[in-house]
Amino acid sequence: MTVTDEHFSTVTSMTDTDTSREIDPDKLKMFSFGVFTQLSGAVTAGMIHLGDKLGLFTALAAIGRPATTAELADAAELDERWVREWAHNQAAARILDVDTSVSPELFTMSPEAVAVLADPDHVAYGMGMFHRFPQTMAALEHMPESFRSGLGHDYDSHGCEGAIGIEKSFEPWMRHHLLDTVLPALDGVVERLEEGAHVIDIGCGAGGAVLMMAERFPKSTFVGYDISDHALRRAAERLAESGVTNARFADPRLAPMPADHSCDLVTTFDCIHDMTRPQEMMDAIRAAISDDGTWLLVDIKGRDSFAENVEKNPMAPLMYGISVLSCMSSALSEPDGAGLGTLGLPASKAQEMAEAAGFGQFRKLDVDHSVNSFYEISV
Ligand SMILES: C[S@@+](CC[C@H](N)C(=O)[O-])C[C@H]1O[C@@H](n2cnc3c(N)ncnc32)[C@H](O)[C@@H]1O
Repeated sequence: MTVTDEHFSTVTSMTDTDTSREIDPDKLKMFSFGVFTQLSGAVTAGMIHLGDKLGLFTALAAIGRPATTAELADAAELDERWVREWAHNQAAARILDVDTSVSPELFTMSPEAVAVLADPDHVAYGMGMFHRFPQTMAALEHMPESFRSGLGHDYDSHGCEGAIGIEKSFEPWMRHHLLDTVLPALDGVVERLEEGAHVIDIGCGAGGAVLMMAERFPKSTFVGYDISDHALRRAAERLAESGVTNARFADPRLAPMPADHSCDLVTTFDCIHDMTRPQEMMDAIRAAISDDGTWLLVDIKGRDSFAENVEKNPMAPLMYGISVLSCMSSALSEPDGAGLGTLGLPASKAQEMAEAAGFGQFRKLDVDHSVNSFYEISV
């Protein structure tokens, strides 16, 4: 539902003490339909999770032509009856295609479906949030207590698979654009990295950005900081596999970030809005960064008000829901957390907070991303 004048006026009238309001049967049907459509989406999301986890999408993509569920089950080494019911859900939801002109029971994937569901190297690959769907939804169990106490849960509450889901969410786009689009959009940063710079990535998660940059710029040194044990463990494993020698990962509570203005570049990807103390973190970034250094802030494209978010962002319901289950919960995981949440750091707020931390320059980069905004911040 979009925020329209009609919606607001309906809500206003509901506050009147009008006991004679009668239910309109047609509107009741439509409203119920709308509510259950949300449930249909949630259940289908669970089925997408299974399709990813069980290799059904990759198996169907590899077959490369319309396939029966017997063929698909065979290729994925699964039981046909279960695969058939799953395929019926996915086709009913228009995730899989059915070529009914040939047979109602031949399933296939469009090239677009292959990109989003089955090709981890494609820029549009989107299985990250579905990978961590069970962990995200399991957070519902803690929610009643959080709603009462005000205290949320950090990223480690989503377990190891939660960290892998985050890695799968952000990295496909980053692999295509971090080195070749984003860093070159920053004033003089690529030249400094080529010469040898000191870089820290805060809220590094499983370390993908650090590893990509460290490989590309061997004369520079990189440290990724995160407070999630699961993410840091995953980052350490990937570092060992990569053979990269100019990067390391640390928990800033155990090995504090530099506070001597020694960093040439600080990066924060999709994490400031998740932090319990984002202003303190920005102060710490100012203490870490040199007077001629750059802070690359990447954060979710929020707008200044709820109404604007709902009007301009078709994914606003998803964003606010994920906020409750994950981002805002993390940002409230300590007493008196700021609780910004998924859409809680629009450009205006980011600039105001950066200025309060002592940064005078704030520039939005011309980088096209469906969810994120990119800012170059300096003294
Ligand atoms: C949405 S994830 C983003 C991870 C990574 N930057 C990426 O793009 O894949 C947010 C990360 O911020 C981390 N985080 C939250 N508060 C933090 C803090 N105070 N210091 C360092 N990391 C923090 C979380 O543990 C989590 O790994």
